[in-house]
Amino acid sequence: MEAKSVRMRRSRWGIALFWLSASAAALSGCTQENSFIETPSMLSPQSPEAARIANLSWFMFILGGLIWLGVMAYLAYAIWGNRGESLEEGLENPNRGSRIVVFWGIGFTTLVLLVLFGLNIATMAANNSGSSPELIIDVIGRQWWWEVQYPQYGFETANEIRIPVGERVLLRLTTKDVIHSFWVPELSGKVDTIPNRVNELTLMASQAGEYWGECAEYCGLQHALMKLLVIAEPQAQFAAWLQQQQTVPQAPEDTLAFEGEQIFLGSACVYCHTIEGTNATGDLGPDLTHLASRRTLGAGILENTPGNLAGWIIDAQAIKPGNQMPPMDLSGPELQALLAYLALLE
Ligand code: CUA
Repeated sequence: MEAKSVRMRRSRWGIALFWLSASAAALSGCTQENSFIETPSMLSPQSPEAARIANLSWFMFILGGLIWLGVMAYLAYAIWGNRGESLEEGLENPNRGSRIVVFWGIGFTTLVLLVLFGLNIATMAANNSGSSPELIIDVIGRQWWWEVQYPQYGFETANEIRIPVGERVLLRLTTKDVIHSFWVPELSGKVDTIPNRVNELTLMASQAGEYWGECAEYCGLQHALMKLLVIAEPQAQFAAWLQQQQTVPQAPEDTLAFEGEQIFLGSACVYCHTIEGTNATGDLGPDLTHLASRRTLGAGILENTPGNLAGWIIDAQAIKPGNQMPPMDLSGPELQALLAYLALLE
């Protein structure tokens, strides 16, 4: 008898240990192996809006934790601490159980939900208040990348949103295909992009820096590889970037790059991509007018280096299966020429 209960206690500890190590192993999957992409955390907010959301999350976590502890304590009491009450005593007081259910189960639960509801509404109201921003950026979800337009300045880019630091900007979010969700955890809450509808979000970064974002609504095969980068820069640097993005690239003078331009303009590239100042005006893929000035390729999944770009051009399907970019059948020298041309698109 004694030996059996010791064995049972041991096996209980074994099970607890197993779950503890299993959840530790699962959580270790949260760190990003690719050093280029940083894993953003909503618990390190970099804007007043994100700070309010993080505070609310902590409040909910702590409140939920306390309630869980209370429930567990009560459960322990029910199992081990309540031996004194006999059946007779229980029968004398038949409504005790229902009183507990009404008070804690209905009353307390409703109170907690009402408090959380109120705090949620207050957080949303606070995040939507404030002066209306001057800078407008249109963000359009695509399978599986982000089209980014600066309508007041008449240019377009992709998977990269630059904003002046410390200034509120207005994002107008929509989609050309399915529902996506725009989320830059360190700066804002999530906002869905819905077909034929424009949702608005004000975005601000208190500190200069790079903030990773991602699609937060399952949108098909490459949902997980639909990232974007928000770059917050000091005003002068941002103004210089705006200026540069509005320029139309010069025709290449160098022979290799000129050859590359001919290859680009003579191939299927022009049906899907736009390069201002050329006859490439496609809209299926990202605007490449200033491709070389961007930090990433393939919607934030690769650093924009000549090697990665070459790999993407030759066989984007191997890198991100299911995306719309077909493999390009180019010889080595043709690829070199094309890369020389694309490198000029700053
Ligand atoms: Cu777009 Cu998930």
